[in-house]
Amino acid sequence: MHITRKISEDLLWVGASDRRLSLFEGVFSVPKGVSYNSYLLLDDKTVLFDTVDRAVGSQLFENLEYALNGRTLDYVVIQHMEPDHSATLLDLMLRYPDVKIICSAMALKMINNFFTIDTSDQFQVAAEGDTLDTGKHKLTFLMAPMVHWPEVMVTYDETTGALFSADAFGTFGALNGALWADEVDFDKDYMDEARRYYCNIVGKYGPQVQSLLKKIAALDVKMICPLHGFVWRKDLDKYIDKYQAWSSYTPEEKAVMIAYASVYGNTENAAEALSVKLREKNIKTVMFDVSVDPISEIVAASFRYSHLVFASSTYNSGIFIKMEDLLRDLSAHSIQNRTVTLIENGSWAPTSGKLMKKIIEDCPKMTIIGDTLSIKSSLKADQEKDLDALADEIAFTI
Ligand code: FEO
Repeated sequence: MHITRKISEDLLWVGASDRRLSLFEGVFSVPKGVSYNSYLLLDDKTVLFDTVDRAVGSQLFENLEYALNGRTLDYVVIQHMEPDHSATLLDLMLRYPDVKIICSAMALKMINNFFTIDTSDQFQVAAEGDTLDTGKHKLTFLMAPMVHWPEVMVTYDETTGALFSADAFGTFGALNGALWADEVDFDKDYMDEARRYYCNIVGKYGPQVQSLLKKIAALDVKMICPLHGFVWRKDLDKYIDKYQAWSSYTPEEKAVMIAYASVYGNTENAAEALSVKLREKNIKTVMFDVSVDPISEIVAASFRYSHLVFASSTYNSGIFIKMEDLLRDLSAHSIQNRTVTLIENGSWAPTSGKLMKKIIEDCPKMTIIGDTLSIKSSLKADQEKDLDALADEIAFTI
């Protein structure tokens, strides 16, 4: 059975959701599933914006056949060549052999890398500002390199103000029959997933996202159609503001994210004791156990909050494995502009503090406050004054 949603008179959502995927990109848990959005414009010419992941290809083709209702497909616009949006391109070309493919020059190179295909005839390369007239609609192609791959472009429909935004403004989560962001309680149920999606997928490329936001600001965008998650027609500014914060590495909230790595619970004890002291000062804290909580959630929280505390056991003369993974991942995602406090533990030769400090210092615009609290196996009562000093430093700077 086809599953489509009408967006406007001549635009349909024809994508599909996957609720069985255990790890998106082989890394990120998606407990609420994920959607792969495809959009079909039914103007004098018919245009499909991107295909879908191989896992849901059959649903796309059923949707497309229904929505085209006997018409042919004239164009497919490939905005992003990552296979979650392009893996079904060849299948599409087999079904619609006369379809023309519009993509950036870099995307064309990637098509030749991913597939063995003659790209001489059917492919049209779009450059910045190129347009396509489809009848009533005039589409303008805008390059958005590194949001999230170098070949990415977005498409602006001047007729309706719709922006087909590729990976930008997406979120994890299956659509479950909904289409519009305002059909669900997005802030309560999806904003955390949108942040987790952004920070972990595109977070490294803040300056490039800022460039795209500047281009968008010059347009009269009335609707945002991303490749994952819901379509936006209301409160666009609110969501764009989130992208401004995330892409400029500006904390959303003054609060403390505490991530700890604890083998036998003693480092956890110190982390929690600090959290209690902060709470007693009316400072919001959130805590993560790096051995249990997905790193992607901790990365997202690190983008959200102003102050970060990392507490780690020493392990094989280094940082505990999962904590090192977290810190390397944060560094890889260009975390910056945060205030950091460190706690180390080591029963005979604590080294994790010094090593964590090195990773943090290599990230831009990070301020480390307070002396690293060093624990020998367990936090002792006579160290409470050191914990108080850390809490005071955090309270002073928050
Ligand atoms: Fe949803 Fe970068 O692909």
